[in-house]
Amino acid sequence: MTAKLIDGKAIAAGIRRDIAERVRARLARGDRQPGLAVVQVGKDPASEIYVSNKRKACAEVGILSQAHDLPGNTTESALLDLIDQLNADLTVDGILVQLPLPQHFDPETVIERIRPDKDVDGFHPYNIGRLAVRMPTFRSCTPYGVMKLLATSGETIRGKHSVVIGASNHVGRPMGLELLLAGCTVTVCHRFTQNLAKHVADADILVVAVGKPGLVKGEWIKPGSMVIDIGMNRLTDGTLCGDVEYATAKQRAGWLTPVPGGVGPMTVAMLLENTLFAAEELH
Ligand code: GUN
Repeated sequence: MTAKLIDGKAIAAGIRRDIAERVRARLARGDRQPGLAVVQVGKDPASEIYVSNKRKACAEVGILSQAHDLPGNTTESALLDLIDQLNADLTVDGILVQLPLPQHFDPETVIERIRPDKDVDGFHPYNIGRLAVRMPTFRSCTPYGVMKLLATSGETIRGKHSVVIGASNHVGRPMGLELLLAGCTVTVCHRFTQNLAKHVADADILVVAVGKPGLVKGEWIKPGSMVIDIGMNRLTDGTLCGDVEYATAKQRAGWLTPVPGGVGPMTVAMLLENTLFAAEELH
């Protein structure tokens, strides 16, 4: 078997075209341009690339992005003051604080300071909680993007056994909640999980979000399953790869996301979607 590739880059481009059209229609009605404040503290090289991609994507669809680039020695209270100011700013529909923050910040304190109706990342405990009780408002961008990718396959998701590897607050946990919302039986594996291979072999839908190249061996994968690789790892030779052994996985899976060009572009597309949603429905 050779897996069908899920082309996240093309699917995300389609979503961005749709968002651009909806923003144009909004402006034609005389409504305000949606606004996203993107806050970066310090100069983490990977974050610089992600933030620049997010700002470019905003410009492309007609969302006004406000740049706040703060020095690495900014205090937590100065960042919280900026968030208060953005919370009160009527031109700002969404606030994104790029993670990771420098060591002296407590990321959960910072995220909780963002008004839940501007939390376009879907990271605030209020928004994660709403997803947990089947009343989603802002859905975390990466898990939301994965659900869109699964839907485009046309395969039935409800009733399937899905296995998520990685239980982080911002990806693994909301991913499990999204799959549960979609009617899957959900197993979440993490650093204390025993016999990972057995869980992988049992997965109709496998979602991997750990950040360890080659963690999931191709031969573990259930033949014909859907495999979504959220990992994004840079190897010493500069190439990017996911958490799943790609070549062997391709021989067994029914569907597979490439890295790069799978989940990554969807995260940005869903951020734009959430920002437009905030402008249209919440503000
Ligand atoms: N760092 C890596 N990915 C993300 C993301 O989706 N949102 C934020 N805020 N920080 C990130």
